[in-house]
Amino acid sequence: MFSIRALGKGFARGDTTTPVFEDISFDVPDGQFVALCGPSGCGKTTLLRCLAGLSAPCAGEMTFNGRNVNGPTRGVSMVFQDYGNSLFPWKTVLGNVLFAMHGTDATKRHKEKLAMDHLDAVGLAPHSRYHPWELSGGMQQRLAIARALASGAECLLMDEPFASLDAQTRAVLEDLLLDIWADGRRTVLFVTHDVDEAVYLADRILILGGEITTLVGDMTNDMARPRSQLATRGAPRFSELREAVHRRLGPGAEA
Ligand SMILES: Nc1ncnc2c1ncn2[C@@H]1O[C@H](COP(=O)(O)OP(=O)(O)O)[C@@H](O)[C@H]1O
Ligand SMILES: [Mg+2]
Repeated sequence: MFSIRALGKGFARGDTTTPVFEDISFDVPDGQFVALCGPSGCGKTTLLRCLAGLSAPCAGEMTFNGRNVNGPTRGVSMVFQDYGNSLFPWKTVLGNVLFAMHGTDATKRHKEKLAMDHLDAVGLAPHSRYHPWELSGGMQQRLAIARALASGAECLLMDEPFASLDAQTRAVLEDLLLDIWADGRRTVLFVTHDVDEAVYLADRILILGGEITTLVGDMTNDMARPRSQLATRGAPRFSELREAVHRRLGPGAEA
């Protein structure tokens, strides 16, 4: 699905360009749940924005389903870290989801039915007439997820979507995301600086690190599915994997 070759990006300021990451290459097959893990400031958001076509890389190539990525791509949807700012405050919950379905050629009634199905999947159907500012943080994030699903995206790029939520809400949304993923077999690239979250969710963990950020690890997570907050996190294999990721990240590298 995604193929990334020798990708590099830096930001220019005056005459000098400060590199953020360089020489990043990896392929993501259809349906895989990939976690991208690395310390704060290493360039995770920048990399995801490049993959989403929101920011142009300075070097390298990337394709999505065989086509070069050089702008926002049909089939790819991004869920941002500051979800509050990415929702339309003047639209209702339902209106926010409907907006994402803009351009699809279904009748209005059919779109509303589909939108309600997506809201139902994230437990927000009873709140369809609310406005985003009437929702809690966890509900807003669920709305952002429903909206990404409604856009018809086969691939979700998620930038630390649960980082600002309390532990309980976060666990609930992690499991909701896993359910949705298992249902539709979407491809997910999930950015997190939280090693435990990466090991809990993903099939595969890509580790970013180094002085100028590059890929320093690519680990397969063979833990059984469906996963469970208690059994999975309590298993000896979970500790092994998290230790292995921490080792790759290096001393003091955890954000
Ligand atoms: N628009 C921008 N202009 C200049 N520098 C930026 C911009 N966006 C990000 N950076 C820099 O790129 C580096 C990586 O940032 P970011 O991708 O947000 O890291 P992460 O998401 O891993 O915390 C940081 O040093 C940041 O200051
Ligand atoms: Mg970030």
